[in-house]
Amino acid sequence: MKSSKQEWFNEKKFGIFIHYGLYSQIERGEWTMQYEHIPYEEYSALAETFDPSRFDADRLARQAKDAGAGYMVLTTRHHEGFCLYDSKYSDYNSVKYVGRDLVREHVEACRRHGLRVGLYYSLLDWRFKGYHNRAKYPESCEAMVQQVHNQVRELLTNYGQIDYLFFDGGWFEDNLMPSVPDWANKIAAVWRSKELDDMIRELQPNILTNERSGYPGDVLTPEQRTRASSDDRYSEACMTIGDRFGWSFIHNNPNLKTSRDILQHMMVQASFGGNFLLNVGPVANGDTYNYDDRILSDIGRWLRVNGEGYYGTTKPEVLPTSMLGEFTQKGNVLYHHIFRWPRTGEAVIANVVRKVKKVTLLETGEELPFEQKADTRVIVKGLPYLAPDMMATTLKYELSDEMLENIPDYGSL
Ligand code: GLC
Repeated sequence: MKSSKQEWFNEKKFGIFIHYGLYSQIERGEWTMQYEHIPYEEYSALAETFDPSRFDADRLARQAKDAGAGYMVLTTRHHEGFCLYDSKYSDYNSVKYVGRDLVREHVEACRRHGLRVGLYYSLLDWRFKGYHNRAKYPESCEAMVQQVHNQVRELLTNYGQIDYLFFDGGWFEDNLMPSVPDWANKIAAVWRSKELDDMIRELQPNILTNERSGYPGDVLTPEQRTRASSDDRYSEACMTIGDRFGWSFIHNNPNLKTSRDILQHMMVQASFGGNFLLNVGPVANGDTYNYDDRILSDIGRWLRVNGEGYYGTTKPEVLPTSMLGEFTQKGNVLYHHIFRWPRTGEAVIANVVRKVKKVTLLETGEELPFEQKADTRVIVKGLPYLAPDMMATTLKYELSDEMLENIPDYGSL
């Protein structure tokens, strides 16, 4: 599935997800229409008050870049059905209401700032009765499926090269939720996802897609958790800064993560060889929320110093173990991202099966004394009492090709 043209995905490793739509005005999350059973006729009044006057794609792209991200994914149309672009197949769109094609602005800004272009697209559209009850409204369901095929064609035809298409919303509320056996194949049959995929590959031969249309795609996209891929697809964990409940801006959002929390999720995901898509929910007028700005700035600062141990890394060939943090690898170099900095002056790692040549502190290049034992342990010494970087401090282990011989069995009784 993966082709060399898609290697950028592992190289860039980190993306920014933007959830922005009519729902941003409500400040209770993008699921409000459904949770509060707001009829379309009433909900659509939000299109009249939609005011993206501070939605500045260029600034968002610069922010993403400063945060160290290599791509950005924008919600072109979420479950509410409102398109942030010019669609021939629906007047319920931003060009009709405010004269702006936010998808075009996003695509152009990404390109200007050297970011790969990602588009999120929700298959389901709550406005259609056929989503809520397929059996009772088969024609409405078919019209919704047709809308998907038409709009995906538009998105992949009108904006030049698109690098990543992120599908969402493949389920049907009445009888096709993810708990149903053989769910993926069943929804793929309804959305005609194979046909959709053929069209996508024809229009954009180098694109990456995810698995949420029921068709396998190139990227697995676990939500709010880190997860390794069990086949040859990429894995990309997407996560919100706040509570798991909502992706668009939410007033009084509880459980806001710290920059350290986010960075740790990123490194756990990287230790599986996976990407991280960090979500930002702009406020009603399109401006970003200052808490999110701060997170992006902290992550960017850390990556500028330690990015060598993150970008383009893979899951270590043999995963060492440690109580202190996460591991990534690039060629013969192993990186240990320490979050639980020890007070003993020593960092112990185990299951290192190759001879270690040198250990340094990544941020300064300072060489550190170490002892390697025949039982696979490496003990790095002379660490400062306080963590050099309170977010995470990275140690760099240069490995030789030489393997340890006669490793004793673990357990001595
Ligand atoms: C979900 C939600 C949605 C969010 C998405 C992000 O499936 O329905 O609101 O956009 O996940 O991955």
